Amino acid sequence: MGHSERYIEDVKQWFGEFKKQFKHVNNKELQTKISSFAEFLDSRDKERISTDLLALHEQVKKLYDTGVRFAEEVGGTELYQEIRRVGIGQHTLPPLPYDYDALEPYISEEIMRLHHDKHHKSYVEGLNKAEKMMEKARDTGDYDLLKHWEREAAFHGSGHYLHTIFWNVMKPKGGGMPGRDLLRQINRDFGSFEVFKRHFSEAANKVEGVGWAILVWSPRAGRLEILQSERHQLLTQWDTIPLLVLDVWEHAYYLQYKNVRADYVKNWWNIVNWDEVDHRYREASKLQWKQY
Ligand SMILES: [Fe+2]
Repeated sequence: MGHSERYIEDVKQWFGEFKKQFKHVNNKELQTKISSFAEFLDSRDKERISTDLLALHEQVKKLYDTGVRFAEEVGGTELYQEIRRVGIGQHTLPPLPYDYDALEPYISEEIMRLHHDKHHKSYVEGLNKAEKMMEKARDTGDYDLLKHWEREAAFHGSGHYLHTIFWNVMKPKGGGMPGRDLLRQINRDFGSFEVFKRHFSEAANKVEGVGWAILVWSPRAGRLEILQSERHQLLTQWDTIPLLVLDVWEHAYYLQYKNVRADYVKNWWNIVNWDEVDHRYREASKLQWKQY
């Protein structure tokens, strides 16, 4: 498939999701825009007009902007329910995408059974428990054990999310090379596939104690990076995207607030830029993996 066919396919898929999200919304302007966009796509198909990609892109942008504007006007309540979500404490163990013995001789069946059925399962259970306990704290206003449950949520959450990625980035008769686009990016950021492989392997070998080697895409730097994670987490959940952050290092408040961090935290809410947080949420929520 060439670039333009793929773009058109992507647009069709996006439009399907868009229609689904707005199907209950009774707004004439929006529904008119949706049907004229559908006609636009249809006419291209039927009459085999070679699609002018720029024109198509313009249409997509217009429809998207209308959707965003509309979602903002109604305050999101009914619309955002359409975004898929795992309920609090409702994570499930994803099935292995192949048989337990499929990765032999490189990883034995015995390891895979233990690793998936016992270890990964316990991360799912631990994460569910932590989420429920944090919900309980919100309900009761009793945050005494919050530090413990945050720790648990990070440990088990990262364990669950990383293992879910891990099973899927392996397959029987795998190996070889990445696809063209990723390979080009690897060459750009590391020099060559061989150098990348060496760096990644060294990172894995040198993790202190237990943990992971992780190749990440940084939307900020616009490049790939290789990171290590000791244990799973250090209080973060891998595979999540930060939306709102508050710096509580002493350098952020000590000169003014001395050791009264709580005052700084309380006052900080007066200067939050929700436009930016909204924007980050809108962009981040477009990325949805299959849920477990
Ligand atoms: Fe593991």
